[in-house]
Amino acid sequence: MRTAGLLSLALAAAPALVSARGTLGFSLGDKNADGSCKSTSDYEADFDNLKDLSTLVRTYSGTECDTPQNILPAAKNKGFKVVLGIWVGAQDSSDLSTNDASFQKDFAALKTAIPGYEDQVEAITVGSETLYRGDQTGPSLHNYIGLVANQFKSITVGTADSWNKFADGTADDLFTRDTDSAPWSLMSSPMPLPTGRTYFDDMSGAMSHIQKVAGSNSDKIRILNGETGWPTDGGSDYEAAKAGTTNAQTFWQTGVCGMLAWGVDLFYFEAYDESWKPDSVGDNGEAMDEKHWGLRTADRQTKFNTTCPY
Ligand SMILES: *[C@@H]1O[C@H](CO)[C@@H](O)[C@H](O)[C@H]1NC(C)=O
Repeated sequence: MRTAGLLSLALAAAPALVSARGTLGFSLGDKNADGSCKSTSDYEADFDNLKDLSTLVRTYSGTECDTPQNILPAAKNKGFKVVLGIWVGAQDSSDLSTNDASFQKDFAALKTAIPGYEDQVEAITVGSETLYRGDQTGPSLHNYIGLVANQFKSITVGTADSWNKFADGTADDLFTRDTDSAPWSLMSSPMPLPTGRTYFDDMSGAMSHIQKVAGSNSDKIRILNGETGWPTDGGSDYEAAKAGTTNAQTFWQTGVCGMLAWGVDLFYFEAYDESWKPDSVGDNGEAMDEKHWGLRTADRQTKFNTTCPY
């Protein structure tokens, strides 16, 4: 929890950004608490509940739970915008050609779901952490982004990946090669760690690197923080970062509010607790509880004070 202290440091070293306040969005799951797929009316209830904070949400899959077909009519009815995802992932890590099957399946689903709802689509992300997992290279991912951008000419198309893959040059090809697509990046961000690798440092490092390699392409590139959050009571600790509602509120009021004040658009992970989720195994090999990342509970109740101090 060192984000507050690092804010002034990060500001001093920050790349030039627009001075306007950043836009807050939410990662939104596609399942109800009991594990059933959300319907259009479930999304409408989410939107009614979230609209005091935001009218922008991010989803991940083109086919799981028929997310695009179900969410786009709800977004139109309630005045929301949605980031849609195309999943690009090897089903079998020994056969990377299985990446293509997942891409084609989700791409086909978006071609069916989007027409008539273009105004509800804030952007499309092609792949989520494909560079981080090693499922794609910069050039191969760029080709997939180009295919989607060519299909949806009025929509911004890009990718989401781990901040360090933007900072270390793995993603450089996305920002340097001539393209018809508007490269657009969405970074996921790990929890702040006690080693000094913190939220503001990570964002600043990745954004500086992208702006440096993009050069004159910089004004075509939109950078957003794709995921940031903190688990509340019942969640799993990550090294010195302790799950808890008090810490989550502190992270919101310093990290999230600070990043918005700095002018960065971000998606809070996530809008609601996902009670159906099984534990995952974290980087440290320990079981991680993923049910308590919601800003609000699964039945849409507020957990803590989300008024920004600035
Ligand atoms: C909520 O947080 C804001 C910003 O820090 C503060 O001004 C306000 O007094 C808080 N409200 C309550 C009820 O604690």
